[in-house]
Amino acid sequence: MPDNEWDPDDYDEGHGFVAEYGKDVVRLLDPQPGERILDLGCGTGTLTAAIADSGADVVGIDAAASMVEQARERYPDLAFEVADAREYEPGEFDAVFSNAALHWIPGKDHDAVLSMVDDALADGGRFVAELGGRGNVTQVEGAVRAELAERGHDADHPWYFPSIGEYAPRLEAHGLEVTSARLFDRPTELDGGEAGLREWVGMFGDELFDGVSEADRATILDAVEERLRPALFDADAGTWTVDYRRLRFAAEKA
Ligand code: BEZ
Repeated sequence: MPDNEWDPDDYDEGHGFVAEYGKDVVRLLDPQPGERILDLGCGTGTLTAAIADSGADVVGIDAAASMVEQARERYPDLAFEVADAREYEPGEFDAVFSNAALHWIPGKDHDAVLSMVDDALADGGRFVAELGGRGNVTQVEGAVRAELAERGHDADHPWYFPSIGEYAPRLEAHGLEVTSARLFDRPTELDGGEAGLREWVGMFGDELFDGVSEADRATILDAVEERLRPALFDADAGTWTVDYRRLRFAAEKA
């Protein structure tokens, strides 16, 4: 899971689009009254609550204690646990749901996650999820890497953004039959106006700057903005739009 120190207030207030877009994934899940649903990587609980509104019985888990604390404060009647999806010992569920969380788990660890999902699901149960897909945020990551490299820094790729061809066989290998899968561009306008891109990098790309001083970081972010401004900044609206690509799928336990 990420080394990021998540700030739940910043996450909710400055990056509310994550949960807003996630509502489409809840629609695909189509939760029914009385269903038992596990929300994997629930963050501050916005979508867990949206699922619960359908009358389903939901448990939200997240590896970040700060996020779970905020989720419990916001939704005291719902169940949340601090848990790492790779090691979680689930009860039985009719569905597992995940939005914008799986890409934080390294690719090598997804077999552990998918084994957990398989264990969690009752026969015929479904796994409905969305994560960053192959090619996600390439322009932003490329610009940050180029500016880091110009100053002698290198960075690991901290996320896992698989293609359909890569992920569907992994699902099937864990007894999860893929019923739909889509990889699609979803250009995403950021909050925060002129500062939106650096705020986004601060929230989601912090690990790219491991070992970089605060002064260098500020210079690099200035240069990243200049590099990306022609392609990603709308001067009339005063907003940045990031090149998100999503992998959205539904699968069923055979
Ligand atoms: C995403 O939700 O696509 C994302 C999250 C973290 C870093 C980059 C992209």
